[in-house]
Amino acid sequence: MSSVDVIILKDIEDVAMQGARMLRHQLRKKSDSVLGLATGSTPLALYEQLIQECANGRLSFRCASTFNLDEYLGLQPGDAQSYRSYMQRYLFDKVDIDIANTYLPGCGDGEDPKDVGPRYEALIRSKGGIDFQILGIGQNGHIGFNEPTSSLSSRTRIKTLTRETVAANRRFFTDATSQPQLAITMGIATILEAARVVLLATGEEKAEAIRASVEGPVSAMWPASVLQLHPQVTFLMDEAAASSLTLRDYYHWVAEQNRRLADVRTAPG
Ligand code: GLP
Repeated sequence: MSSVDVIILKDIEDVAMQGARMLRHQLRKKSDSVLGLATGSTPLALYEQLIQECANGRLSFRCASTFNLDEYLGLQPGDAQSYRSYMQRYLFDKVDIDIANTYLPGCGDGEDPKDVGPRYEALIRSKGGIDFQILGIGQNGHIGFNEPTSSLSSRTRIKTLTRETVAANRRFFTDATSQPQLAITMGIATILEAARVVLLATGEEKAEAIRASVEGPVSAMWPASVLQLHPQVTFLMDEAAASSLTLRDYYHWVAEQNRRLADVRTAPG
C-alpha cells in the first residue's frame, strides 16, 4: 500500500518520540534491519531517545546495520567534525550496535574519491538494500547533500556544496578554513530505493523547504520534493516546520481520523 503521510506534532521532543516509535516497530519486525541514517541537528533528539530506549531494553541494534547518507570529503574519519565522529558521539558509542556493521561513504587514504560511490552502492546492495531511511532536510530542500538541481536519478557521488549549505553548517566548525566544500552523498535515486523513508523537520527555518517539498511540484530545485514519488514516505515535523503548509488543517484532520480508526480496530469485541 502506497502512502505519503504528513504528521505534524507539537515540538521536537514529540517528533523524536514518534520517530523512535517507528524505528522500534521496524526493529521488532526485522531485527537485522538495514537502517539509513542522517546527521545534522534535527536527528539529535531522536538519537537521544533511541539511546534511552536501548538502555531500557526496549530496542536493540545488535543485529542491525547502518548506512549514513553522506560524509565530508577531505576530513579523516577521526576528525571531530567528520560525520563518522558525529555518529560515534551521538549514537554508535551509546547503543549496542556492532561498529563493524556501521558504514559511511568515506574516502580512505590513497583511494580515488570517484570509486567511493560505486563501492558504497554495492555494499548497500550486498546487505539487501535499506529498509528504513531517516532523513533531515536542508533549508534549500536538500536531502543528504543532494543540493538543488541534483539529478533526480543520481547515485552515490561527490557533490559540491552550495554556499548556503556551507554557511548553514559553519556552526559546527571552529575554523572556517577546515570546513570542506565537497562531500560524498547517497544519490536521490539511492534514497528513493529505501523501502521506507521518514523525513524529520523541526523549526521555522525549515517551513519553506517543507512547503515546497510536500505541496510543491516535484522539482530538482527542491530535492526533497521527489519523495512525493516514494511509495512509503512520512514527513514528520513540528508545528513550526509545518507553519507554511497550505493544507495544515487537513493533515491534522487525517491524523485524527487515523487515531479513530486505530481505536475501532483495537476495541474489544
Ligand atoms: C546537512 C546534512 C543533511 C541534513 C541537513 C540539515 O547538510 N548533510 O543530511 O539533513 O544538513 O541539517 P540540520 O538538521 O542541522 O538542519
